[in-house]
Amino acid sequence: MPPRKKSKKNTSKTGDDTYSQESYWSKRYAVGDSAGEDKVEERDHDWYFSGEELQPLLDPLIDSIIDSESPNTILEIGCGMKPILTCLNFDPDSTLNLISLDYSPPCITHLQSSFKSKKSKKYTFEVADAKNLKYEDNSIPIVIEKGTLDAIITSGVSNAVKVLSEMSRVTSRYLLVVTHFNLETEEGQEWMEDVLEPSLNVEDDGVFWKVNCNVGEGGGAMVIICEKCVRRETRNKGGARMQIKVTEY
Ligand SMILES: C[S@@+](CC[C@H](N)C(=O)[O-])C[C@H]1O[C@@H](n2cnc3c(N)ncnc32)[C@H](O)[C@@H]1O
Repeated sequence: MPPRKKSKKNTSKTGDDTYSQESYWSKRYAVGDSAGEDKVEERDHDWYFSGEELQPLLDPLIDSIIDSESPNTILEIGCGMKPILTCLNFDPDSTLNLISLDYSPPCITHLQSSFKSKKSKKYTFEVADAKNLKYEDNSIPIVIEKGTLDAIITSGVSNAVKVLSEMSRVTSRYLLVVTHFNLETEEGQEWMEDVLEPSLNVEDDGVFWKVNCNVGEGGGAMVIICEKCVRRETRNKGGARMQIKVTEY
C-alpha cells in the first residue's frame, strides 16, 4: 500500500470552478521562454501520490491483463505534466501501449517533445476532453486518473459523473481513481453516492462492479480500484451493481 499523504484539496463546493477550466491549466503548464520557476516545479509535482507509490496497486492489475488476448492498453485521463504512466517501471519487453491524455495543448506538446526519443516505451500523448472519449465501449483494460475528477467536479457533480461514466464505458476491466474525497468523511460518502454510483450504474444488466477503496486512516487521498465484472448466471441479473470493500493503507 502506498504511504498516506495529506491531500491537496481542490474545492468542490466553494463555487470556484477555476480547476475545471482548460485555460487555467494551459496557462499553468505553459513552457518555453515564459516558463518561470513555478512552472518548472509543476513538471515535478506529484498530486496526492507519486507513480512509485501507486506502482504496488497497479502492478497486479497490469499482471492480470498482460496475458489476455485484448490489446494491452492503459489509458490515463487528465495526465498533467507528470503522467503516472511515465513514472512507473515497466518490463522493457512488455507490449503495453500507454496512452496519456489531457485537454491542455501545451501540456501534451511538452510531453510529446520530452518523450520523442524514448522509443522503447510505447507512450502516446493526446489532446482530448475526458468528457467525450473517442474509444469504443469495453476497449481498454485499464483506465486511470489522478486528481482529474477532483478538478472537474469544481464545475459541478454532473461533469464529474460524465467523465467517470466515460471511463467506465471504455474500460473492459479496471478503473483506478485517485481522489481527495475520502470515504471516511461525510464529503467522501457523498462523493461515492453522487459521483461513483451513478457513473458505474451502467445500462447493461449483465455487468456489476467490485470496488476496492484504499483509504488512509483519518483522511488523506483515496485510491479506488473498480473491476468491471460480467454476471455469469442470468438468474442473478438485477442484483447489486456494486460490491464495496474498504482497505486501509
Ligand atoms: C489536478 S491536475 C492532475 C494532473 C495529473 N493527473 C497529476 O496527478 O499530476 C488535473 C488535470 O486534469 C486535466 N483536466 C481537467 N479537466 C479535463 C478534461 N475535461 N479533459 C481532459 N483533461 C482535463 C487538467 O488539464 C490537469 O492536467
